[in-house]
Amino acid sequence: MASLFTSRRAIIITNPTVSNLYGAVISGSLQKAGFSVHILEVPEGEKYKSLETAAELYDRLVSLGARRFEPIVALGGGVIGDLAGFVAATYMRGVPYIQIPTSLLAQVDSSVGGKVAVNHPQGKNLIGCFYQPRAVFIDLETLATLPERQLKAGLAEVIKYSFIRNDGFLSFLEKNLNLILELNRPILLEIVKRCCQIKAKVVEEDEKDLGTRAILNYGHTIGHAIEALGGYEKYLHGEAISIGMVGAAWIACELGFLKREEVERHEEILSRVGLPTKLSEFSESQVIDQMQWDKKWVSEKSRFVLLEKIGSPILYSDVPVSVIKKALRRLSLERRGE
Ligand code: NAD
Ligand code: GLY
Repeated sequence: MASLFTSRRAIIITNPTVSNLYGAVISGSLQKAGFSVHILEVPEGEKYKSLETAAELYDRLVSLGARRFEPIVALGGGVIGDLAGFVAATYMRGVPYIQIPTSLLAQVDSSVGGKVAVNHPQGKNLIGCFYQPRAVFIDLETLATLPERQLKAGLAEVIKYSFIRNDGFLSFLEKNLNLILELNRPILLEIVKRCCQIKAKVVEEDEKDLGTRAILNYGHTIGHAIEALGGYEKYLHGEAISIGMVGAAWIACELGFLKREEVERHEEILSRVGLPTKLSEFSESQVIDQMQWDKKWVSEKSRFVLLEKIGSPILYSDVPVSVIKKALRRLSLERRGE
């Protein structure tokens, strides 16, 4: 950061959980590099990724006399990254910011690509923009304190990348899954690096999400519906998209793209992680009704990211509702090997 900025004051935005674990280390390190540091904490939780919290942060920045060239540091998971990035994008028409993602999901997904946002009572991420961080610093050591359920939810996004890229990444994950779950350092380094490379390449091609960036939403159409039906409490995002990816695989199977064994390959790796792969809580019609509210369900037509084969995603519009229903039935009932 000392080489990136001329200013010698940095403002860290974080939450109490992450601040207690890493606030002192990061401020100590910045102070050694000559920065004076302020830590602004916001309460823990997705519900604080809001305009109200952003407004409180603007007030605190104004009271500190924060200026345009002083960097904001987003230290935490995706909630903090999205909120701090949004505040950085809008305070004084944009101040530079750095991402220090501390959850696996944030390391492999939300910290890269520049989507920043807060939620609106009517929906997640409804208010936001594209605003790239000046740098993303990832320290794998932070994963040691991440709750196991959060780690597994992050792995759903890792597995997502392996489904949309045909470069042996899926086989690599299948082979090394036990080591990943044991937080083996060289293996984790490899997977986080590969995910960031995949995401960066997709974002370079379509930063503003007008076309191909949508492939990053594999599993998200059904996943978002499940997340919303669970009131954003029952399922973590990664858990919901785990079910959503299997659902998308069944749709692709119904349409004659994927073979049944490829759907089973989805189920196998996700269930080995301990992620859910069945639609057990909600009915097919509940999911279909909910999906129609999704941004990805364009002008009353369904739009899904589907795989023609593993590693080859396509955007497919207008999947017949009868096909979606059949796929959701399989998602509810099918057992591997039946
Ligand atoms: P999160 O930020 O809520 O973090 C999960 C939990 O882990 C929180 O309780 C957090 O305090 C805690 N935590 C984080 N790092 C920790 C650590 N090292 N040790 C101990 N505890 C730690 O959730 P998340 O899954 O990181 O992010 C979800 C958010 O990311 C959502 O708001 C979602 O909309 C957003 N998101 C954004 C993008 C994007 O492109 N901008 C992509 C995907 C998700
Ligand atoms: N997480 C999806 C995207 O960044 O486009």
